[in-house]
Amino acid sequence: MKTLTIIKPDDWHLHLREGLVLKNIIHFTSEFFGRAIVMPNTKTPIKSVERAISYKKSIVEALPESSKFEPLMTMYLTDDTDKEELINGFNNNIFFAAKLYPANGTTNSSHGVKKIENLYKIFELMQDSGMPLLIHGEVTDSDVDVFDREEVFIDRELFPIVKRFPKLKIVLEHITTAYAVDFVQENNIGATITPHHLHINRNAMFFGGLNSDFYCLPVAKREKNRIALRKAATSGKECFFLGTDSAPHLRKWKAFCGCAGIFNSPVAIASYLKAFEEENALENFEKFASLNGPNFYNVPINKEKLKLVSRSNKILEFIDVVEEKNIVGQIKPFHAGETLQWQVEGIVN
Ligand code: NCD
Ligand code: ZN
Repeated sequence: MKTLTIIKPDDWHLHLREGLVLKNIIHFTSEFFGRAIVMPNTKTPIKSVERAISYKKSIVEALPESSKFEPLMTMYLTDDTDKEELINGFNNNIFFAAKLYPANGTTNSSHGVKKIENLYKIFELMQDSGMPLLIHGEVTDSDVDVFDREEVFIDRELFPIVKRFPKLKIVLEHITTAYAVDFVQENNIGATITPHHLHINRNAMFFGGLNSDFYCLPVAKREKNRIALRKAATSGKECFFLGTDSAPHLRKWKAFCGCAGIFNSPVAIASYLKAFEEENALENFEKFASLNGPNFYNVPINKEKLKLVSRSNKILEFIDVVEEKNIVGQIKPFHAGETLQWQVEGIVN
């Protein structure tokens, strides 16, 4: 049986939600990842130190006993983000980074930024203090085609930011285009790549009727982009690292409104491994999953190791959301019903 032992990975882009969903899904991440950057787009976004502390507390309380998992909190930027709050939160190790959502770009982003230039003073402070800026890179203008939104964002917004703040630590999150792959490499910034964007192209949303199971933002693009993302992720290059963008939505909500987000944390490692194996690049998986992120963010690599085995594993159709032993909801995981060839065997000290 083929096995692989790697340094324990981190998830550099994760949605954990709150309440019951948080309690039911956190273990999928905390079991096999050392840390995760937790996105601040909760129903009431995380805009203050106080909210970040209480959200972090609820995450830690939801962890399985004796878990060493570390949630890294982020501040949700708005047009009127308070400078003091941001920098104090960063200097006191409450905020690990700040997240920029263009207004109405994605789930729970109605509080997002309407005019990015308004944040330039904040970016200057972040550049000076070394606080990372995480970007959802899509414009939201209704006259820009949904499949072009990442490229237009790069030209219109990101390029000027990179030029004006050359030392600002920027991560373009969940990249979906060959254009972004090139931009990231040419401009000395970082990028997360999700498992789903390595496996699906935009066709996935239109097979067997409109299928919101494969709808996420940024939306999957043409096949040539998927191929470019695979090349980038499996290249081992330091600027590309693991960020699942696992974004659970209850089945009833997906069915009702087709909301954007793919829940992949139960299968994330196996899903990435499938892509790396198909690209004959298993030797680069540890760089992507466990080394490039910590190097970019200047944090130590994890001490523990993860043993992975090539053994087939049928993925459940649904993950139950349970409250006092009653099933109160379900969430469909990525690769539902498929058989994946890799599994995590466990932690090795
Ligand atoms: C995310 C969510 O559901 O919070 N959805 C998604 O499609 N990725 C938000 C986001 O990262 O855009
Ligand atoms: Zn996300």
